[in-house]
Amino acid sequence: MKAATATAPGKIILLGEHAVVYGRPAIAAPVWEATARVTVQDASPGSGCTIIAHDLNLTLRLTQHDSHALDKSEPLLFLLRMVLAELDMHEEPDWTIHIRSSIPIASGLGSGAAISVAFVRAVSKRLGRQIEDKVVSDLVYETEKLYHGSPSGIDNTVITYGLPVWFVKGRKPLMFKTDGSIMIVIGDSGVPAPTKKSVADVANAWRQARDRYDAIFDEVGEIVAQSKPAIETGNIVQLGRLFDRNQSLLEEIGVSSPILNRLILAARKAGAWGAKLSGGGRGGNMIALVDPRRRQNVEQSILSAGAKRTIVTDIGGRSVD
Ligand code: PMV
Repeated sequence: MKAATATAPGKIILLGEHAVVYGRPAIAAPVWEATARVTVQDASPGSGCTIIAHDLNLTLRLTQHDSHALDKSEPLLFLLRMVLAELDMHEEPDWTIHIRSSIPIASGLGSGAAISVAFVRAVSKRLGRQIEDKVVSDLVYETEKLYHGSPSGIDNTVITYGLPVWFVKGRKPLMFKTDGSIMIVIGDSGVPAPTKKSVADVANAWRQARDRYDAIFDEVGEIVAQSKPAIETGNIVQLGRLFDRNQSLLEEIGVSSPILNRLILAARKAGAWGAKLSGGGRGGNMIALVDPRRRQNVEQSILSAGAKRTIVTDIGGRSVD
């Protein structure tokens, strides 16, 4: 029996969330310490296609007689149909597709996009074909819209390319080089927070006070611009200050929360260079930039302040081919 497997990383937004929806730049990085894995296995002839998402306790079936070709009610079936069409495969395959993921769900680490990227690549691998990165990212963006409304596209981009990315909505993403250790402790608040809701709240507030919000987004854009050389040269002291400034502006637009503020303060007190929320906010994750020697102190401090768990990643030292 033939089988094909593909893996994709989780992600964090380092700087620029929310402002990125309004055309300002943002920087995101992959998190290889939490991944999604998809395996496509041949099943007996005529059995159709079954998708099993093990961590979600979810089983979906696509059969020969299924005629809802454009039905978007189930994102994974929609994605499967799109990939098969992209690969000119017009017969429904007899497969069992297994999905496993160690990326926490609905916490801003890109679990949906990571599953989708691994899914597209496992299916194309099983068919002995390769889909270029831009097309993978575009296909995954279509399912992201089903989960999030009108996302900026940063999640599917950083997860597809698997490298730190400078992202401006609607423009070609720029992968860039990092230097030295850039160690990040991710703290999970344990509070699920749908990005769709915080993005909609920011949009309402922006409509009511456009000039004020545009000025904040401009300032975020400048912070992101200053962060790029700091990341490229491994200037973590400067980057830490920029994290803190970005966090103040995220608090101003109302997307932080008491638990996130508590975890961020705990990280700073334990010696982090800087700390901020990451992603949609209100709950989900915060990130702290740490010196490797202070990593344990910072993790301990975040956990004592109420984090449900921590993940440590180092986005430094990865280069673009
Ligand atoms: O919650 P996440 O990690 O999916 O990130 C959302 C980032 C936002 O800028 C708030 C929304 C977006 O679509 O970019």
